[in-house]
Amino acid sequence: MNQYEKAFPPGFLWAGALAANQCEGAWREGGKGVSVADVVPLGKFGISRAEAEAALAGNTPDSQYPKRFGIDFYHTYREDIRLLAGTGMNGLRTSIAWTRIFPTGLEDTPNEEGLRFYDDMIDAMRENGMEPIMTISHYEMPLNLATEHGGWASRKTLECFMRFAEAVLCRYKDKVRYWIDINQINYAISDGYSSLGIFDEDHENPAQAHFQGLHHQLVAGAMVRRLAKEINPDMQMGCMCGDATAYPATCKPEDVLATLQENQLYWYTSDVQMLGYYPRYMARYFAENGICVKMEANDETLLRQFPADFHSFSYYVTRILRALQPEEKAPRMLEGLMNGEQNPYLEASEWGWPIDPIGLRVALNLFYDRYRKPIMITENGLGTRDVPEADGSIHDIGHIQYLRAHIEQMKEAIGDGVELIGYCPWGPIDIVSASTSQMSKRYGFIYVDLDDEGKGTGKRSLKDSYHWYRQVVGSNGEQL
Ligand code: BG6
Repeated sequence: MNQYEKAFPPGFLWAGALAANQCEGAWREGGKGVSVADVVPLGKFGISRAEAEAALAGNTPDSQYPKRFGIDFYHTYREDIRLLAGTGMNGLRTSIAWTRIFPTGLEDTPNEEGLRFYDDMIDAMRENGMEPIMTISHYEMPLNLATEHGGWASRKTLECFMRFAEAVLCRYKDKVRYWIDINQINYAISDGYSSLGIFDEDHENPAQAHFQGLHHQLVAGAMVRRLAKEINPDMQMGCMCGDATAYPATCKPEDVLATLQENQLYWYTSDVQMLGYYPRYMARYFAENGICVKMEANDETLLRQFPADFHSFSYYVTRILRALQPEEKAPRMLEGLMNGEQNPYLEASEWGWPIDPIGLRVALNLFYDRYRKPIMITENGLGTRDVPEADGSIHDIGHIQYLRAHIEQMKEAIGDGVELIGYCPWGPIDIVSASTSQMSKRYGFIYVDLDDEGKGTGKRSLKDSYHWYRQVVGSNGEQL
């Protein structure tokens, strides 16, 4: 029997997580094509076909599309990575913008300038003692694949994605050990546009299109893992879901059952990626909701042969749910994640996201019990409106309290026996928000002087949490 031990293991990855579309900016430089993120205006995440096409037509100023400028990381990454390294962080997660490598997704050969950019960025991470953790797709597919080719609902997008994945796996095979195929893959259940490049209004049954798109992404993940094992068997290939585990609002059995079913729906992608097959509860869900996922002959064999090496998830919130009333219409999936009720036992962030550190311990245990493979927390954090004092200092106590409470629970989960290998607080340097495109929703240890319209000096300043994280990393999680 294993010894009971409640400490972070040696070599634990104390990292941070970014995404290209939220930090790089330079949306038209280096041969980059237009991505789905580049046409999302301030305040939105999903947009309609008409909105995407109007934005592309270019009648509105760039300042209304914050993901076009980000924090200009494309130009500042060297200095930003050096600053981040000052916390002692030994890992950094970011994504490779698909459109820097294949501007429209359709090219036969990759854009060398884009590949060189990530060569340099990854080298900068290594020079600063950081293990790169690269996400291949993080809400930034070529817009053209969405507007002209049906997004992931079409098998063509899978083929284009594999050209991109092959280019980056081959190029960075000796530099990058940890890979995530697709960011928060399961949230595509309720998000058509940013996750799948699908415009719901193009489909009579959007749920059908989402699940078909998800199937193509799941198969792509297995193909990526097969390829990675051929290129360099040492690569560690992770999958990733967003965790927003639901609790039943009451102990009424109907509420408990409905909550289990909702959780299963959001766990099914990980079940496929970690266990290698579609769980049976999805066969029932598809049958009862009139969904027919088209598979090709080899798809299920691929899924079975190439499960992920480790599981990873983002963790921000938990939800509470109760059974649908007879007059409410299932499926509930397209309503999105935040429609559950507020948990009366939890406080919420300024953006209404419930804060639940113990829920992280629950999630870690749930996933470890389910898969028995190492876990990395690839995102976690609190969005706050940080305001510098007159002397320039930034006392972001909210970040410290939030992260401290979550790290304490991670340690408890390690004590429970969970094999936790890494932790990536979200946005260690302030970046543009994914869901609202606000710059003012800040997670960072480093403050970036830019507002929601990209106005400001861009100057970087260290917040109190920066010094606190250095102490956490330096003590391997002992001094919180
Ligand atoms: C995750 C995404 O859902 O949450 C990130 O993978 C995102 O891209 C993060 O930034 C935090 O969400 P937001 O909307 O506050 O930026």
